[in-house]
Amino acid sequence: MNRVILKERLVPNIYRLVLEAPEIAASAQAGQFAMVIPDERGERIPLNIADWDRQKGTIDLVFLNIGASTRKLADFKAGDSVEGIAGPLGKPVEICSSSNVLLVGGCYGIAGLYSVARELCHLRNKVLFLAEARGSAFLYWEEKIKKYSEVYQTILRSDCFNTGQDIKDKINQIKNGQPEPSLVIVSGCSYLLYKISEITAGSGLRTLVNLNPIMVDGTGMCGACRVTVQGKTRFACVDGPWFDGHSLDWKEYFIRRTAFLQQEAQALTGLEKEFWTKMG
Ligand SMILES: Cc1cc2nc3c(=O)[nH]c(=O)nc-3n(C[C@H](O)[C@H](O)[C@H](O)COP(=O)(O)OP(=O)(O)OC[C@H]3O[C@@H](n4cnc5c(N)ncnc54)[C@H](O)[C@@H]3O)c2cc1C
Ligand code: FES
Repeated sequence: MNRVILKERLVPNIYRLVLEAPEIAASAQAGQFAMVIPDERGERIPLNIADWDRQKGTIDLVFLNIGASTRKLADFKAGDSVEGIAGPLGKPVEICSSSNVLLVGGCYGIAGLYSVARELCHLRNKVLFLAEARGSAFLYWEEKIKKYSEVYQTILRSDCFNTGQDIKDKINQIKNGQPEPSLVIVSGCSYLLYKISEITAGSGLRTLVNLNPIMVDGTGMCGACRVTVQGKTRFACVDGPWFDGHSLDWKEYFIRRTAFLQQEAQALTGLEKEFWTKMG
């Protein structure tokens, strides 16, 4: 059991949980994740380790309230305990030195890139941060991120995601500007990962994406998170979650990712029924 130290609503649909997890806090590195079991009846879900405090022995998880498990997490309050948490899992993201790196974060991926920006900055990289959100009310952690970023810009989905042209223009503007990035790192929804990879493919600008396939055990044993990279089978939980966005079989990835939509909808409906029964 891991105690909740703080639960905070960052924007209408995104929450932050600070959890007591000293072993994970002691060894977490930027870009790794944890598997969280909300309660005794819950499934294991992967969440990025958005931040950690080694002295206090705590970690920060930032999540989108989207389905049954994340709704349970959103209902926690300080003093409650989550059933279990395993981590740190996955490989840390590649942290280079003395380069210009463009970070593109959307939704929960903004928080997922916070520690990446901090580590890059400590190694004398210039960080260009592009935060993507549905609208300005869905942006968070601007001040924290700006502390480690040479350039901080936003792109709002209401302006750009109908055609994808505006995001293309924005990326090209940053790509051709000063400082010019030599690496792009993307975290967020699958569409954002795909779109940015598609935009940068033409110029060959190296692009690492934080893949979020369905995961079950998180230890490379079940095969749920299988993806194909350069024609080879890889497991996102142990070989990733960071992969070259230009080498991934995106079609297979999208098909596998939506395999359980019906069951996910049923789980959410079940939870709602339980809630209304309790309310009488
Ligand atoms: C390495 C990794 C890191 C992630 N980090 C974060 C994070 O920091 N914050 C965050 O909000 N989300 C993160 N996700 C996605 C998160 O795991 C899912 O949103 C979560 O499992 C949804 O569970 P649910 O029961 O609330 O919703 P569900 O109704 O079960 O699912 C809603 C959506 O989440 C996807 N999903 C469901 N189960 C899983 C699973 N076991 N693994 C991956 N995706 C799943 C579904 O395809 C669906 O699109 C991450 C995923 C991965 C693989
Ligand atoms: S989640 Fe089971 S192999 Fe990756």
